[in-house]
Amino acid sequence: MPFNSTSLPTKVSELRSGFTGVIVQLEAAEDAISCGCRKEADDHLHRAGELARRSLTEARRSVHALRPEVLEEHNFWVALKGIIKNTTFGTALHTKFAAHGKLPELPRPWQENLLHIGQEALTNTLKYAHARNFETRLSYKARELCLELRDDGEGFKVKERHDGVGLTGMRERVEQMGGELKIISSRGKGTKITVVLPCNGELMS
Ligand SMILES: Nc1ncnc2c1ncn2[C@@H]1O[C@H](COP(=O)(O)OP(=O)(O)O)[C@@H](O)[C@H]1O
Ligand SMILES: [Mg+2]
Repeated sequence: MPFNSTSLPTKVSELRSGFTGVIVQLEAAEDAISCGCRKEADDHLHRAGELARRSLTEARRSVHALRPEVLEEHNFWVALKGIIKNTTFGTALHTKFAAHGKLPELPRPWQENLLHIGQEALTNTLKYAHARNFETRLSYKARELCLELRDDGEGFKVKERHDGVGLTGMRERVEQMGGELKIISSRGKGTKITVVLPCNGELMS
């Protein structure tokens, strides 16, 4: 499946996700400076720099319809954990990760899709949820892969709102993979996004 089958708005929202991380880290640096915590401020600035550089590389690569660079070195799970940890480092959002079952080697476009879905879910949590916790779970059982992204923030009424580019992009990507996307959210009860993908031997080869 060609990478450039993803729509332009989806691409744009993915780049926005990267820059949200930069802003979060810069704001944390500002807070640290106002408390006189020099060392902490330096750490946040360093992370902001790293995230900005990565997003710039990403922007260049998407122009050329290339693949996310982190996946050159790591599988999507390791890459996703790294991005979530870097983006939320030193912020009030507490992250938790859990993986169950032996993950099969996933096709590269699937890894890209799952990575982007995870990033978008985190970006939405940071932008809208005012959550304390963000949990990422991955499981593989009975030839079914399940990625769950959950926050305990304010939530929203799924039926009353039109999807923005972020949720539309998630749907688009899950559809491409022949999977199912579930969004459970309600005011005051947080948000849970679940991606379920059938992984039979045929698809994996
Ligand atoms: N985790 C979340 N917590 C609270 N509200 C959310 C969350 N995720 C999405 N939303 C709501 O759903 C809307 C659509 O999200 P999205 O499709 O990503 O578009 P965008 O982020 O561009 O607004 C958001 O504007 C927000 O109101
Ligand atoms: Mg969004």
